[in-house]
Amino acid sequence: MASQSHSAVVFNSSQVFKENIFDGKVLFCTGGGSGICRAMTDAVMRHGANATIVGRNVERLTLAAKELSDATGRMCIPAQADVRQPKQLQDAVKKTIEAFGKIDFVICGAAGNFLAPISGLSENAFRTVIEIDTLGTYHTIKATLPYVRASRGSYIHVSATLHYRATPYQVHVSAAKAAIDATSAVLAIEEGPHGVRSNVIAPGPIGGTEGMNRLSAKGTSTREYEASIPLGRMGSVKDCANAAVFLFSDAASFITAQILVVDGGSEHVRPLTLPYPQSVLDPASIKSFIKPKL
Ligand code: COA
Repeated sequence: MASQSHSAVVFNSSQVFKENIFDGKVLFCTGGGSGICRAMTDAVMRHGANATIVGRNVERLTLAAKELSDATGRMCIPAQADVRQPKQLQDAVKKTIEAFGKIDFVICGAAGNFLAPISGLSENAFRTVIEIDTLGTYHTIKATLPYVRASRGSYIHVSATLHYRATPYQVHVSAAKAAIDATSAVLAIEEGPHGVRSNVIAPGPIGGTEGMNRLSAKGTSTREYEASIPLGRMGSVKDCANAAVFLFSDAASFITAQILVVDGGSEHVRPLTLPYPQSVLDPASIKSFIKPKL
């Protein structure tokens, strides 16, 4: 029997990178209470960093911070903040400085999403996603930059691939993520001379995440979907975490203003997630393609 291909295996960053590469470093991560950003925090902590995770749900954050501390042997603290509120982010930064004295790494990951056609999307709904994703990223940068500059640190912004081509029902997120990609690049060139790097991780289909569960087509079996991905499997949150470890590490010290797509090659062959044009001609029909809310 043929041995399992390398790409079919999900690796931990500790199998590839040294354990202590982030000793003494401090991570500030919005959206770190769950999903991809939690996995990124976990991996960065396993290489030695302490961390603050930021989010709206204090119960979820507190539990996640405890679990991350227990699992990694490093310290993770929760800081409740809505990224739409600059003052709350400033308080979260203050808490981080009081606890750890510095910030080296920032992950701008807090995001919101749902499926809705332009014709059925209210101004407030569009604004809400722009405010969480784009303004939330801006507020996070503004609150952390003096500290990241002081430590000649690094930013990672969690974006997406759906805006590379038009994706129906995702105008709000497409606009928000395109703006984040642009923001990261400008940050990189303005702050590069101060020793600060800024890059984007663009996850493709990552299994088990809230985004994937909420947004993937109901009738698509995982096996059928996985077969359509060039590397033959869904991504794991660990794949995104490994990318974050690489981008924060000194191995990426000459990499800035870049977008690292973590999607197994699927962007190049991606079919539309929803049936086209049926889903556009009959907006009500998308309900039957969306998995029940988690
Ligand atoms: N379709 C259309 N509009 C929607 C919607 C949907 N599924 N969900 C929310 N909206 C609209 C609301 O109707 C409201 O607009 P309105 O005032 O014109 O009615 C606007 O968006 C704000 O919604 P609200 O629920 O008040 O905002 P919120 O700040 O509490 O939450 C989200 C916004 C995006 C965070 C929320 O939709 C959510 O909880 N999503 C799930 C979590 C998530 O997105 N995780 C990330 C996965 S990638």
